Amino acid sequence: MKNNKSLLAERNQNIPQGPFNVHPIFAEKARGAIITDVEGKEYIDFAGGIGTVNVGHCDEEVLKAVQDQMGRYIHTCFHVVMYEPYVELAKKLNEITPGAFPKKTMFVNSGAEAAENAVKIARHATNRTATIAFEDAFHGRTLLALSLTSKMKPYKFGFGPYAPEIYRMPYAYCYRCAFGLEYPSCEMRCAYFLRDFFDTHISAEQVAALIVEPVLGEGGFVVPPRGYFEILHKICREKGIVFIADEVQTGFGRTAKMFAMEHYGVEPDIVVMAKSMAGGLPLGAVTGRAELMDHPQIGGLGGTFAGNPVACTAALAVLNLFKKRDLLSRAEKIGKKVSEKFAEFKESYPVVGDVRGLGAMVGMELVLDRKTKEPATALTKKLISLCCEKGLLLISAGTYSNIIRTLMPLVITDDQLNDGLTILGEALKELNDTK
Ligand SMILES: Cc1ncc(COP(=O)(O)O)c(C=O)c1O
Repeated sequence: MKNNKSLLAERNQNIPQGPFNVHPIFAEKARGAIITDVEGKEYIDFAGGIGTVNVGHCDEEVLKAVQDQMGRYIHTCFHVVMYEPYVELAKKLNEITPGAFPKKTMFVNSGAEAAENAVKIARHATNRTATIAFEDAFHGRTLLALSLTSKMKPYKFGFGPYAPEIYRMPYAYCYRCAFGLEYPSCEMRCAYFLRDFFDTHISAEQVAALIVEPVLGEGGFVVPPRGYFEILHKICREKGIVFIADEVQTGFGRTAKMFAMEHYGVEPDIVVMAKSMAGGLPLGAVTGRAELMDHPQIGGLGGTFAGNPVACTAALAVLNLFKKRDLLSRAEKIGKKVSEKFAEFKESYPVVGDVRGLGAMVGMELVLDRKTKEPATALTKKLISLCCEKGLLLISAGTYSNIIRTLMPLVITDDQLNDGLTILGEALKELNDTK
């Protein structure tokens, strides 16, 4: 019988090291918030396939919808023969994404593709070339998306030259403020910096789009203060710049609202989505103002598998589940519990430098010294590995990979959540005691 060790040896022999693996285990089965490996060991899943299974692994209703759809047809290619689930899902996303204006939606296969298409559409509609992105941002690994992404190693290193006309400004990362200021006395210097940016980096009239995550995902679960996005959005409006919200990681209920921008009362011109949309099947979406979305010529947008009918059907089932199980309230409760526990960890362990979050998107930044804030990168890795041994799956985030982030399925039970947090607490204690 195959075990983790023998499969790992085969993996290493046949697959390059580039596609990374956090945990040395192979899945046999996954349900709700539990993954069972090929050796029969169960793990509580706080990673959720990097935020792709907010409705849980293999939900019965998603499974049924997918099976029914597969029995009818799996793929025709939307560009050859159209199908209803694509249209139905587009209609729904046009309704539920923030913004009280006419919208249209197109589908792709991933978050990177969604981000790329949003930029393409903004360029076409404005007849401008530049895009403003942020430090610590992550928008994907394909060339334009990679160029929008900030972190050098491992994402960008060795893969240049990058796509041109991308300009980067600091994000509202209050724990590590790029301006050395403190909120609220900073008076949002980082947001108003966009005005200076037009003088020092790129003229506003050359900027097609500003793309920003409402909460940094891979960049470390950084939550900007209220007011930040309102300022950026207002300046974009004044200058005719398309405001793109990358809701790939925040979207689909993670922050206890369907889209995190709703917390800020900002209506983006374009929203990009992927990850948890289709309950684990690959699907991305770009929803935006109808006049922007309609700008590119016929045939200018699309893709062979883009908006696959099985994935669209799964996404429709996911949307039903959010309503039926009231998963937004559940996200709020999970977030509260995790934040309280992380705050306790911060009281007990000096290595916990900062705790922050929005809804169930909660992060804990680990540092070697609270004064210097030197990132505790190696220790974070050790912590994740120790938790895995104890039956809890975690992943890190941040430019220095020193942030523990929580992306558990929102259907996790109270007992599973408590057990997971207990394991994390034990592992933190163990590392603290052996330091
Ligand atoms: C905010 C954000 N945008 C884009 C992406 C890229 O998505 P994908 O990996 O599906 O290409 C990610 C992935 O982590 C993300 O978090």
